Parts: sequence; C-alpha cells; structure tokens
Amino acid sequence: MPRKIAAGNWKMHGDAAALAEVDALLATFPNPTVDVVICPPATLIERMARHLDGSAIAVGGQTCHPATGGAHTGDISAAMLVDAGATHVILGHSERRADHGESSEQVRAQAQAALASGLGIIVCVGETEAERDADVTLEVVSGQIDGSIPDGVTGPGVVVAYEPVWAIGTGRVPTTEQIAEVHAAIRAQLVERFGEAGAKMPILYGGSVKPGNAAEIFAVANVDGALVGGASLKAADFSGIISALQTA
Ligand code: 13P
Repeated sequence: MPRKIAAGNWKMHGDAAALAEVDALLATFPNPTVDVVICPPATLIERMARHLDGSAIAVGGQTCHPATGGAHTGDISAAMLVDAGATHVILGHSERRADHGESSEQVRAQAQAALASGLGIIVCVGETEAERDADVTLEVVSGQIDGSIPDGVTGPGVVVAYEPVWAIGTGRVPTTEQIAEVHAAIRAQLVERFGEAGAKMPILYGGSVKPGNAAEIFAVANVDGALVGGASLKAADFSGIISALQTA
C-alpha cells in the first residue's frame, strides 16, 4: 500500500507569526499516523524546520532549480533546501508552470536534482478547465507524468499530486467519479512504467480540499492523501484534513 500523506502548500503566504500554526498542529498531532509535510515559502523553511525538529512533521520546498549552483538569481538548489532542513519539494505546480513557464522537461530536470540531493518529490499534474471541457484530461495528465517524472525512479520518495487547475483555490471540486477516473489512470501509468515501485507511489489529490470534503475524497480508490493549499494555513483546518486521512 502507498503511504498516506497530508501535504500543505503554503504558496506565497506565511511569516514568522505563522509558525504559531505549526506549533498548534504539532500539539494536536504529536504522533500522526500519516505522513504530514508543510511546504512554506523559502524564507520560512529553516525556521519551520527548527520548530519541527525531532517531530514527525516534515518540511518541504515549493520548487528547486535543476543546477547545483551558479548564476541563477533568485533560485534555490535542491541541496540548499536540504541544508535549510527540508526533506521534500513540490515540483511542477500549475502556478509554477503558468507563472514561470516551467515545462515538464524542466520539471524532470528539477526532479532529478531533487532526488539526487535526497529530497522526496511531489510532482504536480492537472488539466485546465478548457482541457477538461475538450475531453483531453487523461491525455494531458499522462503527458505531464511522462514528461515530468524521470526514468528509472524507485522507492517511496516519488509522489504524484493530481491538481485540476480549475479546482485550485476556487472551491470547486471534481466529482468523486472524476477523481477516481484520473487517479486510476495515473496508477495504471505508474505501474506500467515503474512496476512494483509504481504501485507504491502515493497519489495525492489537490484542489479545494477542506475539512468538510476530505473524508469523501479520501474514500476514493487510489487517493493516498491530499496536497492542500488554503486549508493548510490554519492548524484548525489542516487538522481536520489530517484527521480525515488518519481514519480513511
Ligand atoms: P487550494 O487547496 O487552496 O485549492 O490549493 C490547492 C493547491 O494548489 C495545492 O498545491
């Protein structure tokens, strides 16, 4: 069985005061029975990692540069994330693909760098609303997976997050049938490409996951957890999602 993961993507939110939310989360879940990861802005990674040192809650980055170093103003290497205390990194989020023009080929290079540095990767894929309306969701998602995940990866450090772009931050969530269809297709593709390792790669759903809809989403086959945006910012909300995953 794949590991269950509740991952929080804080995006460009959070400052030192927000670390109180992490403390509250830790107080609620001193020993979570699922993997919990929070990915704050880069400026908070080190401080958050210190807050969570020795705990079961992990810290991740939101992207990394494929190079190990060099003249890349504003970028951060995978090794720098590790140095700051991160153990995971989100790659290929649709906001990175849209705002920074990141292609699946670039995401694959980032993934190789991250894995080489020992980071677990959460690779995001998902269709736009226009692509869903055009009935090409499965082709889009499978193309992104093919392009973004390096060949020959093994082990549990590879996680896929299916995030329909139209469901991110909108309060709109696909039907459980729609989630089931895409997750089943992703699972089949991972198994075909990576064999037994592909059967163990967690597949997360992301896009307007809230405490109120989490249990229904986690009951869908091949949903191994969630990548949560807005509802991961407040411990009270994220706790409800973690609880739902623990009992799923
Ligand atoms: P929301 O949970 O705010 O819809 O964001 C989802 C997301 O993009 C997580 O990466």
